[in-house]
Amino acid sequence: MKKKDSQKTNICCIGAGYVGGPTMSVIAEKCPYITINVVDLNQERIAAWNKKDLSKLPVFEPGLSKIIEKVRGKNLFFSTDIDNSIAIADIVFICVNTPTKVKGLGAGRASDLKWVESCARRVASKSTGHTIVVEKSTMPVRTAETIKIILQSSQPMNPPYKEKTFSVLSNPEFLAEGTAIKDLEKPDRVLIGGDDEKAIEKLAEIYRNWVDNKKILKTNLWSSELTKLSANAFLAQRISSINSISAFCEVTGGNIIEVSKAIGTDKRIGKQFLRAGPGFGGSCFKKDILNLVYLSEYYGLNEVANYWQSVINLNNWQNQRISRIVIDKLFGTISGKSLAILGFSFKANTNDTRESPSINIAKDLLEEGAKLRIHDPKVSIDQIEKDLNLIEFNKLTDKEQSKQEFSNQGSWIFAETIEKAFMDVDAVLVLTEWEEYTNIQWKKLSKLLRTPAWVFDVRSIVEPNTVIQSGLQLWRIGEGSVS
Ligand code: NAD
Ligand code: UGA
Repeated sequence: MKKKDSQKTNICCIGAGYVGGPTMSVIAEKCPYITINVVDLNQERIAAWNKKDLSKLPVFEPGLSKIIEKVRGKNLFFSTDIDNSIAIADIVFICVNTPTKVKGLGAGRASDLKWVESCARRVASKSTGHTIVVEKSTMPVRTAETIKIILQSSQPMNPPYKEKTFSVLSNPEFLAEGTAIKDLEKPDRVLIGGDDEKAIEKLAEIYRNWVDNKKILKTNLWSSELTKLSANAFLAQRISSINSISAFCEVTGGNIIEVSKAIGTDKRIGKQFLRAGPGFGGSCFKKDILNLVYLSEYYGLNEVANYWQSVINLNNWQNQRISRIVIDKLFGTISGKSLAILGFSFKANTNDTRESPSINIAKDLLEEGAKLRIHDPKVSIDQIEKDLNLIEFNKLTDKEQSKQEFSNQGSWIFAETIEKAFMDVDAVLVLTEWEEYTNIQWKKLSKLLRTPAWVFDVRSIVEPNTVIQSGLQLWRIGEGSVS
């Protein structure tokens, strides 16, 4: 085991996921003097981070592979050697998943902290000398207290009985997937919560290599943890607000794009996060709000809990009403009809499908007996299969499909191209705002569809006139049927 070198900073990041991988890549690029080991229990994931072919990295993020090419093997390393990486680290970042609990106390709402706790125990056992432990994962308020207790209870039982010391900081991550590199390189703010000035300064010094000191905010631990949950809740609340108005527009003749634009010009409101859609997805908004609801109830703040719960309820409703509209427009039945699903990731520019609205919408349509042709530029067929997780619905590859003529009800195929997705379908649903879906050659491709056919633009990204002039019927979120 190497000793800590007082001249150089050594970081260990536990968790090589959507946050750990990109965040550490950017730190490694901006701070060549720091050595970073990103470690994970998942051997397959680490192997993928080490792949020579950079198009096979486990996380797709614009700009990420270029940085990895520059720093991997120089001052950024991916491995499963968790213990040694902890032992030589001055700073350990905890970047593991904190999903909603599926069973036990608080199931369905509280965050499951078993991975965080296991990291804290491992750091307690394997660290040497003084270690700064940084919560990067999103944690319930007061988790740092638990981490501190675990760390403090771990002094060596055997000679040479050298005392270990720890400082715990909260440094939540605000990156959004699809723009992670940009967000990390030019953050609106970096938040550091803690009570140890020296440790806070050590972490701030790292960020100052590329972030203006004015953007580095320092708070106490609990404010920092609560800020992260609140920021996500506020963003999600804006989406539920605009989605509620989208439904209003559809029944009154308003147009959500016009309304959003007009609302957003008020500087006090701002124009971001006012795009209506199928409801927010992603691994965090729902989980973090549920956690806020759980904590509010725990502290007896029932009105607060109800307020945030309504943001989730509206989101679920928005998600469910899409499939109802599709069925309604297709003469009340989609049994045996073929539909194209464009987009399976929860937003554009990521291969992440966690809590993607496409999953529930696809499941609802399959349940009604539709045959789906699913296309996504970055999500793999295996991922879609895992997400749909429906043994009763058949998955056919393109080749099998051409043989079998895709005859089963409630089945789906992975379409490798948009053209293949359009073959003989009664409707096209645009569910993710991928750039390539904004440039579809509707005039040419409309000939592949059955007639009469519908386009359901759930992200308001297609050019309406081109669709209509191609002889297709168009429904847009927050506008309804467009003629
Ligand atoms: P992820 O699931 O992509 O990655 C987490 C990784 O941690 C996994 O690879 C898992 O194998 C590993 N892991 C779990 N327990 C471990 C252990 N004991 N030892 C070693 N490895 C372990 O998750 P993510 O999307 O990177 O999110 C991580 C945290 O960051 C969450 O708390 C999330 O809320 C928060 N966050 C996520 C985003 C985002 O955009 N995904 C943004 C900001 C904050
Ligand atoms: C979100 C936050 O934006 C990040 O700041 C935060 O760090 C992160 O969660 C997290 O904690 O995990 P992310 O979920 O990656 O980031 O992506 P967003 O851009 O926030 O989109 C979330 C969902 O809302 C997507 O499904 C997106 O399509 C939807 N959305 C977003 C809308 O429907 N309308 C909008 O105007 C914006």
